[in-house]
Amino acid sequence: MNAPRHFLDLDAVDVETLRGILGRPAETKNGRSAEKPLAGRTLAMIFEQPSTRTRVSFELAMTQLGGHVVTLNPDDSQLGRGETIADTARVLSRYVDVIMLRASSHDTLLELAEHAEVPVINGLTDHSHPCQLMADILTVEEHRGPIEKQIVAWSGDGNNVAVSWVHAAVRFGFELRLACPAALSPNSDVIAWAAEAGGAVSLTEDPMEAVAGADCVVTDTWVSMGDEPGDRHRMMAPYRVDEALMSVAKPDAIFLHCLPAHRGDEVTEPVIDGPRSVVWDEAENRLHAQKGVLLYCLNA
Ligand code: CP
Ligand code: NVA
Repeated sequence: MNAPRHFLDLDAVDVETLRGILGRPAETKNGRSAEKPLAGRTLAMIFEQPSTRTRVSFELAMTQLGGHVVTLNPDDSQLGRGETIADTARVLSRYVDVIMLRASSHDTLLELAEHAEVPVINGLTDHSHPCQLMADILTVEEHRGPIEKQIVAWSGDGNNVAVSWVHAAVRFGFELRLACPAALSPNSDVIAWAAEAGGAVSLTEDPMEAVAGADCVVTDTWVSMGDEPGDRHRMMAPYRVDEALMSVAKPDAIFLHCLPAHRGDEVTEPVIDGPRSVVWDEAENRLHAQKGVLLYCLNA
């Protein structure tokens, strides 16, 4: 039996494959395809953490492509009573064709993938959020052309989404400037991986330095799921994306945020609700990009 085509992280997939996945939305984005390439296929979604976008966009993607979805939460499945993720993987592999997991711990995702006989998709862990980045790349390219030519600046917590931006910068070949407090920088292994892979990824504690001349400005919540707020609001305040910070980016720079947003914390209302914000397109593109991911995993 061939190994399942997992979609666990962007650093584990080559750029040709990623480009192939991103090419699929063009086939389906404008109007729902009459073809149902996933007819008879079933996706199981497991949520250890809350979700709005990932849940709805995966369910719609699967349904619009002709397939079905089953959703499990720890509270209403035997996972909540101690059945292991390995046994869950073995059982689900006998029922469904692909599994999407939103996990509190990345290790849970790796364990699921190790024991599943069907493809496993990372729907966010404490380490990374690769499906978000597929939608983000699509959004940047729709608004500003090929990402290879862009400078992307991240101002905020060096969290799971920031790690996937690092992976994406290396795979897609764009410049990524991260501005994070030293204590909340992305894991040094990820930065070292990017340097070794020849990526144009830089790290600073100065948001103005990172954003100066950028094409895209990105941020995310200061307190991710599973984080303790602690001293984060004080540490993160200088990284808030406001009009002053946006004013040093290119005049036609766009603003991205994976959502959910906290207006007044990581981004001000005039920025996220202003003319440079593309966050609603970005949220919509989760649906289109994930159709590509599902078609890739199911070789359809
Ligand atoms: N951006 C994102 O993954 O949103 P949800 O947590 O609502 O799925
Ligand atoms: N970094 C955020 C992303 C939410 C989609 C979190 O993990 O909570």
